[in-house]
Amino acid sequence: MEGVNSSSSISDLDDLARLLDRPRLNIERKRSFDERSFSEMGIFDSVNSPGGRSGWETPASSARNSFEPHPMVAEAWDALRRSLVYFRGQPVGTIAAYDHASEEVLNYDQVFVRDFVPSALAFLMNGEPDIVKNFLLKTIQIQGREKRIDRFKLGEGAMPASFKVIHDPIKKTDTIIADFGESAIGRVAPVDSGFWWIILLRAYTKSTGDTSLAETPECQKGMRLILSLCLSEGFDTFPTLLCADGCSMVDRRMGVYGYPIEIQALFFMALRSAMSMLKHDAEGKEFMERIVKRLHALSFHMRSYFWLDFQQLNDIYRYKTEEYSHTAVNKFNVIPDSIPEWVFDFMPLRGGYFIGNVSPARMDFRWFALGNCVAILASLATPEQSAAIMDLIEERWEELVGEMPVKICHPAIESHEWRIVTGCDPKNTLWSYHNGGSWPVLLWLLTAACIKTGRPQIARRAIDLAEARLLKDGWPEYYDGKSGRFIGKQARKFQTWSIAGYLVAKMLLEDPSHLGMISLEEDKQTKPVIKRSYSWT
Ligand code: GLC
Repeated sequence: MEGVNSSSSISDLDDLARLLDRPRLNIERKRSFDERSFSEMGIFDSVNSPGGRSGWETPASSARNSFEPHPMVAEAWDALRRSLVYFRGQPVGTIAAYDHASEEVLNYDQVFVRDFVPSALAFLMNGEPDIVKNFLLKTIQIQGREKRIDRFKLGEGAMPASFKVIHDPIKKTDTIIADFGESAIGRVAPVDSGFWWIILLRAYTKSTGDTSLAETPECQKGMRLILSLCLSEGFDTFPTLLCADGCSMVDRRMGVYGYPIEIQALFFMALRSAMSMLKHDAEGKEFMERIVKRLHALSFHMRSYFWLDFQQLNDIYRYKTEEYSHTAVNKFNVIPDSIPEWVFDFMPLRGGYFIGNVSPARMDFRWFALGNCVAILASLATPEQSAAIMDLIEERWEELVGEMPVKICHPAIESHEWRIVTGCDPKNTLWSYHNGGSWPVLLWLLTAACIKTGRPQIARRAIDLAEARLLKDGWPEYYDGKSGRFIGKQARKFQTWSIAGYLVAKMLLEDPSHLGMISLEEDKQTKPVIKRSYSWT
């Protein structure tokens, strides 16, 4: 913000936050930490960010409806509290879905690490950090267990995908069983769980100001174990993390093996979060050095090779192939004929995004919402790239948001490609579930990205869409159809992260100072020299 000093910006934003403030269920929050969050959320730089079309709404227009909270909010809190899971009397998480009508429970009665994140943020924003602390401590204990799949022992740092508390009413005991992938459909270990755990530990620390939890030997060791797994040296030629298909939110075969954007963005965010929490002792310092080097290489790689906009697409379209040696422009030998037809229509002149995957001779041009939103929050995307991602969402609203926010990926894969890529998965058919389905949980990530880039009105538009249907439809897990109009074929109802995602989105919009707990400012040191292109002018 040129010509405006930061202290006056802070008080302006504070006024705005006050104006936007609505009655809350529990507002015992500590002002000092909110203020610290303000400086970290990068809001001031981004309000007038390059390419940013729209700024904050005027207080007058945002004050509409500001006296009465939406009736859905109270319903959502009730539903979220019903999903609480207790261990020896203490709340330790929320179950994935509280759907009594569903015939098959599968593992939806478990506490999933990734699913708990929006629940945790809702509790933190509402001034209830204890459950988050309990969850972080319980999962770190579970991490310490020996993990085996058949006769194979998993890495020490692996975090569970989910866990379940078994109550024995006769013996009056509670025990925990955890799943590290050995029970999951497809038997894939969740790479994202450890990253979400670190990100959540930072959110807890930022929100409460309580650094003592992160400083405990247990949490320090837990972080180091996770980091050891993903920073270990191997045969890699890229700084990105090599993964099996289905190791994150998209936990079935969907062609997301290799270097999926979701994992790379979470990896980046977890590394940066860990940097702020590792102790400066001998062990901590050693990891910090490794993190700095990796962040440097990772941000360069992602910002250069995963980034796609009109200019970049045009360059790839004209790529020469079979180039050898250091002078190669087409480093991964991508054959232009492999660019799918839809990308040419989809790519606006203004806007851009991080594509799904980059590996030798393979670019997965699909758009994935989670990875792109996390890239904005972690400042993996430069401010220009962040603005371009938001431009793309505005330009391609029908495709990426449609009638129910937010499409998990775009476009869906069909026919022969669906057979080959998914292995004929009947759950992931055209425009359903992970194959182009619309997931209400992603609303909180979109909202956070909108606030960070100074475009809260986009979030408001998306929240309005969700409010028209979510409660009425019983908080489905996902929606189907090209524009997300139909309740998902096999969607669970009362899916906890759909409920919590809505609450987090609402609270973020009402009090943007919450953004600090899940957003990281740009680190100037990792800024690489990159070419300018159309969407950045
Ligand atoms: C599905 C989703 C996964 C989620 C789980 C529990 O398997 O693909 O991301 O964690 O359900 O809700």
